[in-house]
Order: sequence, then structure tokens, then C-alpha cells
Amino acid sequence: MDLFDLTGKVAVVTGGTRGIGLMMARGLLQAGASVYVSSRKADAGEAAVAELSGFGRVASVPADVSTEDGCRGLAAEVGRREERLHVLVNNAGATWGAPFAEFPAAAWDKVLDLNLKAPFFLTRAFLPLLTAAASDDDPARVVNVGSIDGLHAPSLPTYSYSASKAGLHHLTRVLAKELGPRRITVNAVAPGPFESKMMAATLAAHGDEIVASSPLGRIGRPDDMAGVAVYLCSRAGAYVTGAVIPVDGGRATTL
Ligand SMILES: NC(=O)c1ccc[n+]([C@@H]2O[C@H](COP(=O)([O-])OP(=O)(O)OC[C@H]3O[C@@H](n4cnc5c(N)ncnc54)[C@H](OP(=O)(O)O)[C@@H]3O)[C@@H](O)[C@H]2O)c1
Repeated sequence: MDLFDLTGKVAVVTGGTRGIGLMMARGLLQAGASVYVSSRKADAGEAAVAELSGFGRVASVPADVSTEDGCRGLAAEVGRREERLHVLVNNAGATWGAPFAEFPAAAWDKVLDLNLKAPFFLTRAFLPLLTAAASDDDPARVVNVGSIDGLHAPSLPTYSYSASKAGLHHLTRVLAKELGPRRITVNAVAPGPFESKMMAATLAAHGDEIVASSPLGRIGRPDDMAGVAVYLCSRAGAYVTGAVIPVDGGRATTL
């Protein structure tokens, strides 16, 4: 178990107040890390803290990371409380669906600001704290949450979403090269379907088809996200960087 132990590590999970971020935050806590969950709504943060506090030391720092100022503000607030940050999970994300002919410019700005630009600005804002945590034997870790929709062309009209996730997968490789010499790994997780607010309508309308077309015959469970987060952030994942790891029950990997 020592291979997956995160005792003494400090992590920030953006969008950690629900859905996939909450699943990852719970896994990191159970492995021994202290976790800051962050999202825009303070009440959602407090509710997540109440839900997670039985698993370990957890706190909420509300922030809107869709602007560079918001990213800097989150890093500054965490920096007031911690000398080092071992793990940054760039998970907060948004989607937008509209027919091709009507797809608005705002759907590009909103989705790219949060899904693609925020991971870049946040990683840069946290660089001093990540560098302080990094060592040759035990690098600091950045985990970007992409999507299988960034690996294949999706069936829904979510043009800016899938493009943002493909961009985030590539940004992951670029930052892995940039930050490896500073002993920071940068990897992406590409989830398949998991229950969340973002996925609720899709699963309600197409859940049965999704399950039927999945080689493993189910959607993702919270442990599937907890497991990949713990792997990438522990000694077990110390030599992995620039990777995009699909966690999708085979939906995209076997297409
Ligand atoms: N669920 C899936 O099946 C699935 C599949 C592939 C990829 N993903 C990816 O997984 C990540 C999480 O998705 P989810 O399904 O868990 O979605 P979700 O349930 O909608 O959760 C999104 C989280 O991001 C936060 N957030 C939204 N806008 C924000 C902003 N401007 N600044 C800071 N935080 C913000 C939300 O909290 P507030 O509203 O309080 O800000 C919430 O905590 C996303 O990157 C998504 O693309 C999900």
C-alpha cells in the first residue's frame, strides 16, 4: 500500500465540490493527502467539505478559475495557508451543446476559458508552490481532466467542448516537456461516462445505449476516478508524464 500512500501531501482539486472532482478528492483524501476543493460557489464548497471531512483534512477555497485573475487569486489564497503544493488537479470544466448552424461565439469563449486556458494559467500560478514540493525522487503532480470526447469525434454537437479537451490533451504533453526539468509531472485523465450534473441529461436520455455499447457493460464508478488520481499522484505514478489515460470502460479505446 505504501506505493499509493499520499500521507503528508497537499492537493488542490478544482471543481472538487461535485462530480468527477469530488470522486478524485475523496480518493486523494483516503490515500492520506490534505485536499483543498475549489469551485465558484461557497455553499457548494462547504457541502463538499461536510461530505468529505470523514476521509481526512479537507477545506474549501471558492474561486472562479475562468479568468487568469481568478487563477492567481486561488493560488495566492492556497499560498497563504501552505508552503508547498504536491498535487494540482485541473478538473473544473463546462460543456455547451447547440446545432452547428447556431453554435454561438459565447460557447467557444466560455468553454475554452475554463477547459483549456484555466489549466494553463492555474499551473503557472501554482508553479512556485509546486516547485517547492518537487524533488528528483518524488515529483510534484499536475493532473488535467480531459475527456474521451477529445480522443474521438463525439456524437453530440459539443464543438467547443471536444476541441477544448483535445487541446488540453496536447497542452498536457507540452507542459510535461516544459515542467519535467522542474520535477513536475503533467498527465491527463480522459474519462468516459460518469454520473455528474454535467452528464445527467445525457445519461437520462442515452444511458442504456451507452452501457450497451461499452465493452465493460457499465458507466464509471467513483472508485474508477479515485484510483487513477491516486495512481498518478503517488510513488506508483512518479515516472509517468505527458500521458493521456482513458478511463472509459473501453468505449473510446476499442473504437
Ligand atoms: N462526467 C463525465 O462523464 C465526464 C466525462 C468526461 C470528462 N469529464 C470532465 O470532468 C470534469 C468534471 O466534470 P463533471 O462531470 O464532474 O461536471 P460537473 O458535475 O458539472 O462539475 C463541474 C465542477 O466545476 C465547477 N466549476 C464550474 N465552472 C467553474 C468555474 N468557472 N470556476 C471554478 N469552478 C467551476 C463546478 O462548481 P461551481 O458550479 O460551484 O463552480 C463543479 O464543481 C470536467 O472537466 C469534464 O469535462 C466529465
